[in-house]
Amino acid sequence: MSSAVEIRTFTTPQEISAAAAEEVVRAANEAVNRDGRFTLALSGGSTPKNLYNLLATNARTALPWDRMFFFWGDERHVPPTDPESNYRMADETMLAKIPVAASNVFRIKTENPDAAAVAEAYEQTLRKFFQVQPGQVPNFDLILLGMGPDGHTASLFPGTAALKEKSHLVVANWVEKMQTHRITLTLPVLNAARCVTFLVSGTDKASALHAVLEENVPAEQYPSKLIKPSDGKLIWMIDRAAASQLKAH
Ligand code: 6PG
Repeated sequence: MSSAVEIRTFTTPQEISAAAAEEVVRAANEAVNRDGRFTLALSGGSTPKNLYNLLATNARTALPWDRMFFFWGDERHVPPTDPESNYRMADETMLAKIPVAASNVFRIKTENPDAAAVAEAYEQTLRKFFQVQPGQVPNFDLILLGMGPDGHTASLFPGTAALKEKSHLVVANWVEKMQTHRITLTLPVLNAARCVTFLVSGTDKASALHAVLEENVPAEQYPSKLIKPSDGKLIWMIDRAAASQLKAH
């Protein structure tokens, strides 16, 4: 049974980042108190940059860094030094500024030109860390997600094969419109999280957000619609610009 969906509307992107930082602090301390560790899957793109910076600065002393374990929800198939790399963005905005051990950071190793091998290696990394057997799925404490103007999330793009993946934890998803593979966690993993938090900002997301939250459109056309944690919380942190086409907010 999926939990309630919480939609929190803020005035500005900065307020989203501040609220998201509070959510990370809450989730981290809850997880460490319960399990002795906090497992977090980071989102890529530009929206989370300010949040990551806040975690490394304003929220720095509120977080149990040595008990935090960092993963990625998706990654571009580029080297970690590439300006497009989600790892590089998180490293520059947060990881390089905090006292976290390299052994707590699980980068998707996209320097391998074989995208399928990259995905398989990351899947094994997840299975080993979470101690999950074939048929089982890891439960991240928190997964941060963004949403594109086309309604994609992570690297689950409209009409792509990864939307149908039910057994692998990680796949190399061919994205025709980008003519590239993207490495992504699959829906079974995303929907097994204890908490999924979307950060969505800007008028360019308004149409897709209305479709995802309020319209009865095929979910394959708006993959963010497929995010329904089976036993976890789903929180949307949006700003007024992104919410501008919503009827109910
Ligand atoms: C990525 C992300 C992707 C992102 C959305 C929104 O690799 O780019 O995982 O799903 O969250 O495209 O991106 P922006 O935050 O840049 O709008």
